[in-house]
Amino acid sequence: MYIQNKPRWQIKENQVTNEQLYLNRRKFIKNSSSILGSTALLYNFLGKDLDANQNNENFLKFQINKKYHILSNITPENLSTKYNNFFEFGSTKNIWKEAQKLETKNWKLKITGLVEKPLTFEVEDLINKFKLEERIYRHRCVEAWSMVVPWLGFQMSKLLKLCKPLSSAKYIKFTTFYDPKIATEQKARWYPWPYTEGLTLEEAKNDLSFLVFGAYGKNLHNQFGAPIRLHLPWKYGFKSIKSIEGIEFTDKRPVSFWENLASNEYGFWANVNPAVDHPRWSQKTERILGGGERETEIYNGYGPEVSALYSNFSNLGDRLFR
Ligand code: MTE
Repeated sequence: MYIQNKPRWQIKENQVTNEQLYLNRRKFIKNSSSILGSTALLYNFLGKDLDANQNNENFLKFQINKKYHILSNITPENLSTKYNNFFEFGSTKNIWKEAQKLETKNWKLKITGLVEKPLTFEVEDLINKFKLEERIYRHRCVEAWSMVVPWLGFQMSKLLKLCKPLSSAKYIKFTTFYDPKIATEQKARWYPWPYTEGLTLEEAKNDLSFLVFGAYGKNLHNQFGAPIRLHLPWKYGFKSIKSIEGIEFTDKRPVSFWENLASNEYGFWANVNPAVDHPRWSQKTERILGGGERETEIYNGYGPEVSALYSNFSNLGDRLFR
């Protein structure tokens, strides 16, 4: 991104949730989660040590998706919810308090463009309709830091089936809310607000594309992009747009927020690749939120799931990875 900050992920040890405690709790929850409905209660009972400073303390019902439950190095909630990129609320990593101003009640998601019938959904209806599952995904920011988060949501492809896109639809454009009164950074005219992102229809249909409504067993924290965000674990984090209000099916490739600002640094594709440096820094390794470093993997380790999407795009060369 444009603004480089002092790495606040190096916070003091006493500010960090005891990770072992968290992981033991998860192990217990995993072993007990066959009874759907009790899981939320378990989180409620066991989650007392979690940060109470969040405005969303509602625990959600969900099922564990075992296929995406293999990572154990989950980033403590106290870290992942205190080191965020949400430029609508400021350009530091410390925007979580500002983001509490976002009012998420009665939020609506509008589906427009090249579909058989435009639709509008209440968030609650979407959650009830599709049921939530928990997936633990890696998140790799283009700024070379990373985390692992247990998200709650459902596969994007489920919504696509319901929307019935026309055969002419080739891309999807996602749009975040626009409300400069509460998201004061949206008053800054040098940014092309509202935040937008885009995917090909094929990418959106991929099993990994996940619409997120919660994290750590609870409603999505405002700073994570409540009440609906996307998570695309094989792409740099800026593609995972937060607080989505609009989904538009189109035949033209959308130009996203960051591409609009600096297309040579933040392109449309933005697939993770350690071999292709950002023009201003290396992408070979990543700082792990909470401490340590690891070597970055192509497609962030999700190559088996997604590389076929790009088998016909060799003409794009490095552009696939920026
Ligand atoms: N979505 C919106 N609407 N606004 C943003 O500033 N930042 C992006 C992405 N989605 C951003 C956004 C970037 S750069 C990253 S790395 C991730 O959100 C950060 O997600 P996190 O704060 O949950 O870690």
